[in-house]
Amino acid sequence: MRDEWAARVHAEYQSCALTQHLTLWLIQMGASPDLVRDGLRIAEDELTHAELSHATLAAAGGALTAPIPRDQLGLRRTPGAPLEADVLRVGVRAFCLGETVAVPLFTALRRDCTAPTAREALDRVLRDEVRHRDFGWTLLDWLLDTAPDPDAVVAAVQASLPDMFAELRGLYAGPGADATPISAAERAWGLMDAAAYADVLATTYERQYVPWFAERGVDARAAWGG
Ligand SMILES: [Fe+2]
Ligand SMILES: [Fe+2]
Repeated sequence: MRDEWAARVHAEYQSCALTQHLTLWLIQMGASPDLVRDGLRIAEDELTHAELSHATLAAAGGALTAPIPRDQLGLRRTPGAPLEADVLRVGVRAFCLGETVAVPLFTALRRDCTAPTAREALDRVLRDEVRHRDFGWTLLDWLLDTAPDPDAVVAAVQASLPDMFAELRGLYAGPGADATPISAAERAWGLMDAAAYADVLATTYERQYVPWFAERGVDARAAWGG
């Protein structure tokens, strides 16, 4: 349980770095101040999530031991690709996919969570994730609206989705999905079974990914595979 909260501190730092870097790219593109401010506010939220996760780790009697994975913090440009293509790739992967599934995931993690610091962390995270998710879809719509050739943007998303979906399934519905169920005590600290993660991902695919991508001309079913 401590390992999980320690991993969450690192994951929140990673989200903070990713969002801050993506927002720099948006500034470089001359995106509207509204979109830039949304990005900066999200980076700030992620830092708060890291603090709350660290407080939960401490309340559980744990401490951070592993160093932060420096080489994983920060984004890399694709050599030769326009900035727009990298913003699209990161926006879809981290926000349209990652933050969209995060909303029902944190809803499920919070359901049986009663340990006060863990609950406080999950309350705040869940409240913010809805706005983080919306940022992703707003960003995608902005990229579609401003592209000289919107069909090329749709085609790029369609082409990148199979690998991104496979990555998500690896994270949330991998071979560990049948592993030992976690205890009631662990659930009280905001953890859940691998099988529950897989369920949330399957439901998100049907209820959000398929219809929301379809609205933008992208066929998520064709990309899902698996
Ligand atoms: Fe977060
Ligand atoms: Fe987030």
